[in-house]
Amino acid sequence: MIPIAKPFFGPEEAEAARAAVEGGWVTQGPRVAAFEQAVADYCGAAHAVAVSNCTTALHLALLLHGVGPGDEVICPSMSFIATANSIRYTGATPIFAEVDPRTYNLDPDAARAAITPRTKAILVVHQIGLPADLDRFQDVAATHGIKIIEDAACAIGSEYRGRRIGSHAETVCFSFHPRKVITTGEGGMITTNRADFAHRLRLLRQHGMNVSDTARHASQKVVIESYECLGYNYRMTDIQAAIGIEQMKRLEWIVARRRELAARYTRALANHAWLRPPYVPEGVEPNFQSYAAQLAPGAPLSRDDLMQRLLERGIATRRGIMLAHREPACADLAPCSLPLSEQASGRSILLPLYPQMTDDEQRQVTAALDDIARTAASGTSASKLLGALSSATAAASCVPGRA
Ligand SMILES: Cc1ncc(COP(=O)(O)O)c(C=O)c1O
Repeated sequence: MIPIAKPFFGPEEAEAARAAVEGGWVTQGPRVAAFEQAVADYCGAAHAVAVSNCTTALHLALLLHGVGPGDEVICPSMSFIATANSIRYTGATPIFAEVDPRTYNLDPDAARAAITPRTKAILVVHQIGLPADLDRFQDVAATHGIKIIEDAACAIGSEYRGRRIGSHAETVCFSFHPRKVITTGEGGMITTNRADFAHRLRLLRQHGMNVSDTARHASQKVVIESYECLGYNYRMTDIQAAIGIEQMKRLEWIVARRRELAARYTRALANHAWLRPPYVPEGVEPNFQSYAAQLAPGAPLSRDDLMQRLLERGIATRRGIMLAHREPACADLAPCSLPLSEQASGRSILLPLYPQMTDDEQRQVTAALDDIARTAASGTSASKLLGALSSATAAASCVPGRA
């Protein structure tokens, strides 16, 4: 079976986790601080604040910007449901706007059109690692006095106009779930260039407590902490951070390898009859957290049929990005019409991609896609022939006097 994704670990990650366990400091401590520094340095951000996952990172980023009950936050429906859920945790309402069906990213014009006096922010997703058009979103935000928060769950290592994601906005949220480019099992990070934001986020992630455990333990004097605001337990553990530090050392290689594999898929799909490679706009360098191909209109089989045929050949795929507004969990939100998102979601398919994928495994995937195209084409001509024969028979049976 060729899986859709696989985390890339070596003995270094196992050794680092073991050292954290043996060291005795297992939750948010010195290794979390070192992991934060590694992510900040890599992204070119002044600060990075580690949290338990990207959903909690988004929740804190929204709270930081004062999002709460009665507010609206514009976001794509075509995203993992955590995007919309994080808005709902604050009591605000997600307002779903259309995506560009070529990039799967929120369309800045659609976002602008969705702004009302209640709009507090736009939650911009860099979908499957393809950077959204940040300059255009910043223009919209500046014109309307609203905030941009980046959902960069999938986008570590991606670049927008020559700079890595994580350095452009006031708050950028990353995920280290195993389906992401690097992983700590579960984990998240918020990068920011503002010291006051980093300070506030550090309060919020640990119950509003005004002193860190590392500072308390290092102190020669008794420290009595205070709790300054309603906070949360969104801490990352030092065991996770130990793994994250090792993953960061591999990140450049992982991104380069993903881009190489993606380029090969794109070359292989250049002449495919009805499967199109992903569209990459000018000025962005995706990390290819996923490789999403799109079925052309008029393809001889549905996306789900294609997934089934690949599965029967031992190849795992996933549907493209989900639509939050179609899920029962969002049934209480105002109904919305998003034909472009629906079409793009229904036609896209994620192909297997992981750094340790061998040439032979990738050839099996592309050969299977070619083979399915050939069978589907002959199936189509056979069914056209059958269709022609049956309509000829039907026509014959309608000839007066012959029935
Ligand atoms: C776009 C997007 N946002 C948020 C998340 C949530 O990340 P996490 O699982 O780390 O909470 C994901 C995870 O898949 C995602 O793809």
